[in-house]
Amino acid sequence: MDQNEKKESAAKKALELIGNSLNEESVLGIGTGSTTNLFIEKLLELEIKIKGVVCSSLASEDQFIGSSYDILSLNEVYGIDFYVDGADEFNDRLELIKGGGAALTREKILAHSSNNFFCIVDDSKKVEKLGKFPLPIEVIEIARSAISREILKMGGKPVFRQGIITDNGHQIIDVHNLNIEIPYDLEGFLNNIPGVVENGIFAKRKADKIILSTNDGIEILE
Ligand code: 5RP
Repeated sequence: MDQNEKKESAAKKALELIGNSLNEESVLGIGTGSTTNLFIEKLLELEIKIKGVVCSSLASEDQFIGSSYDILSLNEVYGIDFYVDGADEFNDRLELIKGGGAALTREKILAHSSNNFFCIVDDSKKVEKLGKFPLPIEVIEIARSAISREILKMGGKPVFRQGIITDNGHQIIDVHNLNIEIPYDLEGFLNNIPGVVENGIFAKRKADKIILSTNDGIEILE
C-alpha cells in the first residue's frame, strides 16, 4: 500500500468506528490535512444526519460548503462528541506533534473541547521520541524574533515558515533539533513564552485512539 492508500484506510476505519454512535444531536470536530481530507470525502458521500461539524481550519470548512452538513462554530455548541484529525508524529503514549498544516491552535482547541479524539495516521508518523518533525509554534508577529532567541537558548533551531499566515492571522516558526524529553512539560513551558499563541505538542490533551494504518492492516492504539 502506498501512503495515500494507508491514509484512506485510516480515514475509512475512523468513520466505521464512530458511525454507529452518531445521531441528529452529534457534533463532529474536523481536523486539517490530507488524511482528514480523505475522512471528509467519505463523510460527504454518506450524508450522515448529525447536528453539524466544527472545523479546525477554513480549508476544512470550505469542503462542507453546499453539503448536507451544517457548519457550526465552537461557540454555538456545548462540546464536540468526536474530533477526528491527523498528526505529523505520534508516540506510544498517544502524544502528538501537529501543525504541519498550520492549523495547530484551532486543532488544539477542538481536541480539548472533544469527548473523543481519534487520530488517523499512517505508519510513517510513528516515532519513539517526538521531535524528528520540526515543532510548529504559532506566534504573534512582533514577538517572532524574541521567541526565536528563547528557542535558540533551549538548543532548538527556529525556522520562520515564510509566506504562511494562520487562520488566526499569526505566523509560524518551525523548531528543529528540540530535545523533547517530557512532551507534557515542554508543551506548557513553550506556551509560557510571551507571544507564543500555541505550540504543536499535544500531550496535555493527547489522542484517545490512534487509528494506525500499516501494510498489515489497521491497528488501534489506546
Ligand atoms: C495540520 C496538522 C495535520 O494533522 C498534520 O500536518 C498531518 O497532515 P497529513 O494528514 O496531511 O499528513 O496537524 O495542522
